Amino acid sequence: PINLKGRSFLTLKDFATEEIRYLLDLSRDLKAKKRKGLKDKLLDGKNIVLLFEKTSTRTRCAFEVAALDEGAHVTYLDMNSSQMGKKESLEDTAKVLGRFYDGIEYRGFEQKVVEDLAKYSGVPVFNGLTDVDHPTQILADMLTIEEHVAKPLDKVKIVFVGDTRNNMSYAWLYGCAKMGMHFVAYGPKELWPDSSVLDEANKIAEKTGAILEVTDDIEKIKGADVIYTDIWASMGEEDKLADRVKLLTPFRVDMEMLKATQNPEVIFMHCLPSFHDFETTMAKNAKEKMNLDIREVTDEVFRSKHSVVFDEAENRMHTIKAVMVATL
Ligand code: CP
Ligand code: NVA
Repeated sequence: PINLKGRSFLTLKDFATEEIRYLLDLSRDLKAKKRKGLKDKLLDGKNIVLLFEKTSTRTRCAFEVAALDEGAHVTYLDMNSSQMGKKESLEDTAKVLGRFYDGIEYRGFEQKVVEDLAKYSGVPVFNGLTDVDHPTQILADMLTIEEHVAKPLDKVKIVFVGDTRNNMSYAWLYGCAKMGMHFVAYGPKELWPDSSVLDEANKIAEKTGAILEVTDDIEKIKGADVIYTDIWASMGEEDKLADRVKLLTPFRVDMEMLKATQNPEVIFMHCLPSFHDFETTMAKNAKEKMNLDIREVTDEVFRSKHSVVFDEAENRMHTIKAVMVATL
C-alpha cells in the first residue's frame, strides 16, 4: 500500500510512478466527493502556512479552499508582512514555522528554498512554484488530460510550445518521464531546456519508456493529443519581454498550429494566467508603450472547443487537496 504521510512535495522527481498514480486517483475521489457535497474533514485541526514571494491567483486560492474544505486552517504570508528573508534567516523561519504548522507551502524563486524549508522545519513542504519547477500544476494537468483524452497517460503525446526552458516545461519533462509519456518541447533553439535537466529527465525515461524530444520542427507536433503553452516571460523575467517576442512570435499557438497536429480531437492547455488578448494591463502596456504583441496564444484557440484551460484551473484545487490529504 502507498503511504505518503510526512513526505514533502517539492518535485515529481522525488515520487515513484505508482505514487503519482495514487495522488491522481485520490484527486479524482476528492473531486467526486466535493461534487456530492460530502464533507468528512480529512485535515481536521491541521494548520498550514502559505508563503508567497511571487503573486498568485490559482495556487493560493486552491490551497485555501482545499484546506478549508477538509477542516484545516491557513495563514497567508507574503514577503512584505513577515520577517522571512529580511530580518530572519530562512533556517530560523523554517524552525519557527515547523513548531506552529503541520505543513508549509512556498512559492518563490530558488528551488533550494523549498528544500531548505523542508530540511529545517521538519514538516511537509509543498512547492507552489519555483524558477525551475511547478509540480502541483502537473498533477492538475495530468488529471485534466485523463478527463479529456481517452487514452492512458503512457500513450499520450504532449507538445509544450514556446519557452521550453521555463519552470512549466521542466516540470512537464519530469512528469512525462515519470509517467512514461511522449513529451515534445517545441520552441526556438535559444530557449531549449538546459542539457542537465534533459539528462536528468532522460535517466528517468529510460526506466519508464517515456519519449522526450526537443525540436523547432513543426513536423514533430503531428499526432499530438495535447498542445500546451505558457507565457513568454515568467514572473521575474519581465525585462526579457522584447527578446522573447522576437524569438517566440513564430511559436504563438494558433488554429494553424492545432491543424498541424492532424488530430481533430487535440486539446489546448495552459497553466494560466494568459495574455490571449489585450485585456490585461501588461499586454496592453507592452503593445501601446513598446509595440510588442505578447500573446502566446490567439484568443480564437483560447476560447475554442479544443481549450480545457478552466477545467485545468479547477483541478488545481482537487489535486492540491490530494497532496495535503496524502502527506498530512
Ligand atoms: N497556474 C498558476 O500557478 O496560477 P497562479 O500563478 O495564479 O497561482
Ligand atoms: N511560467 C510561469 C508560470 C505561472 C503559473 C511563471 O513562472 O510565471
